[in-house]
This record gives sequence, structure tokens and C-alpha cells, in this order.
Amino acid sequence: MSSKPAEEFNYDLMSIVVHDLKAPIASVKGFIDMLEHLGPLNERQLQFVERAMKGLERMEQLVADLLDLSRLDSGAAIEMKPCNLAQLIYETVEMYEATAAEHNITIDVYIPSLPPINANTPLLQRAISNLIGNAIKYNRDGGIVAIQARKEADFVMIDVKDTGHGIAPEDIDHIFERFFRAKRPDKKQISGTGLGLAIAAAVIERHGGQIWAESTLDEGSIFHFTLPCMAEIETDNRNQSSQSDTHRPHREAGGEVSDSVDDDLQESDESSDSDSRYDEV
Ligand SMILES: Nc1ncnc2c1ncn2[C@@H]1O[C@H](COP(=O)(O)OP(=O)(O)OP(=O)(O)O)[C@@H](O)[C@H]1O
Ligand SMILES: [Mg+2]
Repeated sequence: MSSKPAEEFNYDLMSIVVHDLKAPIASVKGFIDMLEHLGPLNERQLQFVERAMKGLERMEQLVADLLDLSRLDSGAAIEMKPCNLAQLIYETVEMYEATAAEHNITIDVYIPSLPPINANTPLLQRAISNLIGNAIKYNRDGGIVAIQARKEADFVMIDVKDTGHGIAPEDIDHIFERFFRAKRPDKKQISGTGLGLAIAAAVIERHGGQIWAESTLDEGSIFHFTLPCMAEIETDNRNQSSQSDTHRPHREAGGEVSDSVDDDLQESDESSDSDSRYDEV
């Protein structure tokens, strides 16, 4: 009888659970959608429909998160390809422009010419997305998210900075732990499961990089991560990567969307955080 390592077994199990949950979630969503077409709903009914939908969206996100984590834990091979990091960051920022605009948050991006990196694009986008999502979610209305990337020795360093309420010194060592959520001094409830940073850390580490955070209460936080450069193909792709030598300030919501990122990890398809998750509950 063949015995699999526990992590591999967990991943197999999670894949089955996620697969089996997808159909009922889709069907409940369909029925909730249909409720709105039955006739005009009163305000209270509409509120319930909205809450049920948000709950389902969170459930979908949670199962996707757990699947990604168990996949990363399992050590299963992850397909890596040369990736234009600047383009990936801009595409991810675009996903958040509407949410940021709702809260009057400006997203500033500064990315000079970067060498290509070797990445699993959907997973890396998930990590970047979780950091940008947090920088908006934990920001204050009218705040700023500043994203910078630069080449250091043989790696690329990316910073995601916000002007939010910051993270208490006693919490900062725990934020990358699974399910950890810091208590907010203003007692405001912000929805989330505490998996976003754990996923980001697992993804960055799987790419041979490092991730860490610094924060000052009431001023904001800055998350840094590094990714090794693909030194050997840097010269060949110089023309391509230099196209991203720009400083792009925040663009209005609804701006044009550039080519979509590679789709070499099916499970991460729905990885983009749904806007509804940023609503305070
Ligand atoms: N930019 C930030 N500013 C302030 N606190 C932050 C920031 N990013 C993360 N945190 C704190 O770290 C905790 C963990 O973040 P993480 O992204 O893992 O989970 P989450 O945002 O709570 O939920 P989700 O799984 O939906 O991402 C958050 O609950 C929050 O307390
Ligand atoms: Mg988060």
C-alpha cells in the first residue's frame, strides 16, 4: 500500500472538498440571484439577499485560500515561467482601482525598468493582490497606497506602503501566521479570514524570495518582498522590460485593462478579492 506524505494527502483531500463545494455554492448563488427577479423585494429582504451573497463570496474565497495553502504545503511542483513583474503589478492594481476609488484612496505606482523574474504568475498575482488588498482595506478614507519596485543586487525588491492605522508592535510578528487577525484599536470590524498574508508569504518563499513588514501605529505600514532575478535572460528581454520604465500615478476607475496574466494555475482563477470583502460589516 502506498503511503503519501500528510501534506500531499491534505492537498488531495482539499482538492476534492473544493471541487465538491463549488457546485452547491454556485447553485445557492443562482437561487439568491433568482430571488431578486421574483418581484420587487423590500429593503429588509434586499439586505438579507446582499448578506447571503457576501457570505457565499467569503466562503468561495476561503476554500480557494485553503486550496492554495495546501497546494503550497504539499510541495507539489509549480510551473514557473519568465514573468514581466511590472505588468503583473499594473494588472493587479487595476483590479483594485474601483475599490480604492470608493474610499478615495490613491494608488501610486513607481516601477523602473526591471529584469524578468521566474514565476508562477497566478500565484504571484495572488500574493501581490493580497498585499494591495490589505493596503486598501486597512487604509483610511482618502489615504494613499504607494507601490514601488527596484532591482537590487540579484533580486527585485517590491514595497507596498499604506497610510492606514498601522500594526501594533506586539502583532507584527504574528501577521503572517494563518488565521491571525489583529484587534483594531477603533474596534471597527473589517471582514477577513487571516489567510491573505500567510498565502503571500508561502508564495514568495516558494519563489525563493522573502517578505516582511514594518509599521508605525497611526501612520501606516510597509510590506517588502524580494524575488530573485532571472540573470541569464535579463539581457535578452531588456527591450520588453524597459517598456515598463514608468511612473504611473493612480488612474481613474474603469481604465483599460491590459493583456490578462497567464493562467497556469487553474485553482487561482477566482483569486481576485471580491470588492464586497472590503465592506466593513
Ligand atoms: N496593511 C495593513 N495595515 C494594517 N494591518 C494589516 C495590514 N495588512 C495586514 N494587517 C493585519 O494583519 C492581519 C492578517 O492579514 P491577512 O491579510 O493575513 O488577513 P485578513 O486581511 O484579516 O483576511 P484575508 O484572509 O481576507 O486576507 C489582518 O487581520 C490585519 O490585522
Ligand atoms: Mg488580507
